Amino acid sequence: MSVDYTFPEGFWWGSATSATQIEGAASQGGKGQNIWDYWYAKEPNRFFEGVGPETTSNFYYTYQEDIKRMKEIGHNTFRFSISWSRLIPGGKGEINQEAVQFYNRVIDELMAHDIEPFVNLFHFDMPLEMQEIGGWENREVVDLFVEYANTCFELFGDRVKKWFTFNEPIVPVEGGYLYDFHYPNVVDAKRAIQVGYNTMIANAKSIKAFRFHQFDESQIGVILNLTPSYPRSQNPADLKASQIADLFFNRSFLDPAVLGKYPQELIKLLEEHGHLPQTEEGDAVLMEANTVDLLGVNYYQPRRVKAKDHLPNPYSPFMPDWFFDNYEMPGRKMNKYRGWEIYEKGIYDIMMNLKENYGNIESFVSENGMGVQDEGRFIQDGIIEDDYRIEFIKGHLQWLHQAIEEGCNAKGYHLWSFMDNWSWMNAYKNRYGFFSVDIETKERKPKKSAYFIKQVADKNGF
Ligand code: NOJ
Repeated sequence: MSVDYTFPEGFWWGSATSATQIEGAASQGGKGQNIWDYWYAKEPNRFFEGVGPETTSNFYYTYQEDIKRMKEIGHNTFRFSISWSRLIPGGKGEINQEAVQFYNRVIDELMAHDIEPFVNLFHFDMPLEMQEIGGWENREVVDLFVEYANTCFELFGDRVKKWFTFNEPIVPVEGGYLYDFHYPNVVDAKRAIQVGYNTMIANAKSIKAFRFHQFDESQIGVILNLTPSYPRSQNPADLKASQIADLFFNRSFLDPAVLGKYPQELIKLLEEHGHLPQTEEGDAVLMEANTVDLLGVNYYQPRRVKAKDHLPNPYSPFMPDWFFDNYEMPGRKMNKYRGWEIYEKGIYDIMMNLKENYGNIESFVSENGMGVQDEGRFIQDGIIEDDYRIEFIKGHLQWLHQAIEEGCNAKGYHLWSFMDNWSWMNAYKNRYGFFSVDIETKERKPKKSAYFIKQVADKNGF
């Protein structure tokens, strides 16, 4: 393979996962319940084919073989998350020593294979007891989260040098408090905004706790799904709607995380709708003083925004006149196996925005990937021939490469994901892995893309 696109030396090649989605052992090893365990027990039929979080890829037991596979395909970095309810069942109090041993073993095993651990602290998995006292709406939960974060820094900070506070903090806001696809299934814009705000307070406080340790050469960041917002036309209503979507879905996390303050336009918008969150004295100073060192960018598809003259969603009164869709339109490329748009240049637009408006903060693509339904149909001679995924990756890497050529500060590319995994309400509907997982036997098999990824990592380009 000749190399047309070479990436900077030391580029991070790897993949991302999360505890609830891969560990399995949801009620073993002393783990407490989180909201997913609880919600699944209550309403199993809301999950695709009734499959819950106990039935995941079983990484809790198979981490050694999985890490070996990661090494074989050239990973030099790997992201996983720590489960708060595994480490501190109930969210506060005693530390579960079995969990400490498990995460220590995972970290040590990765390091023994020269794979740097990237550790995320919260990936949608609130301990049930914390949710019962209000979850992110309650500032006491914010402080207990910071204690948990600090426990992780103390236990693992001697070896882990890349920390992340949150993955996609907008998702619990949308899912849990606006659109009913996560527990606690609340549909209330005002409460949603409070949840988003308190999450960013938790982010700033955790960063403050992290800095106190003065670890050598360690960095802390946040992982955001920055979804570029494009108006569906140049008509002023669409332009305005697109700007509002950008403010709400991207900038309400990006600005406080990187710049240490909320955009004025957002504050004005919330004020107009009577939706300003409750704050405490000192919050603004805290946020300003505790911004991230590093930004993870998850990118899957853009948001195409069109204004509407009636409410698209009666529950979102603070964004009354916008609407976005993922539908096929002339000129759009689609992932026809999942229904999402494929727009590779989005990755370039995000990176150039970070360069121009966010001080060219150090960043990396922390998730990108292609979900596919019924992937078994692509098996030939015993292997899933996922050429569509290889094309998807190449297209995005070309635009990432272009952004780097133009001076953006991107340090790596992580795919979602190493292996097929359990994806919340969709369970195993959309397969993302470059290793397939048989959910009955847990057997892993490389897909064609696994070999491609190895070549890219080995040659530091393609
Ligand atoms: C984003 C999330 O971080 C992850 O939990 C999810 O499964 C993937 N995207 C795929 O949708």
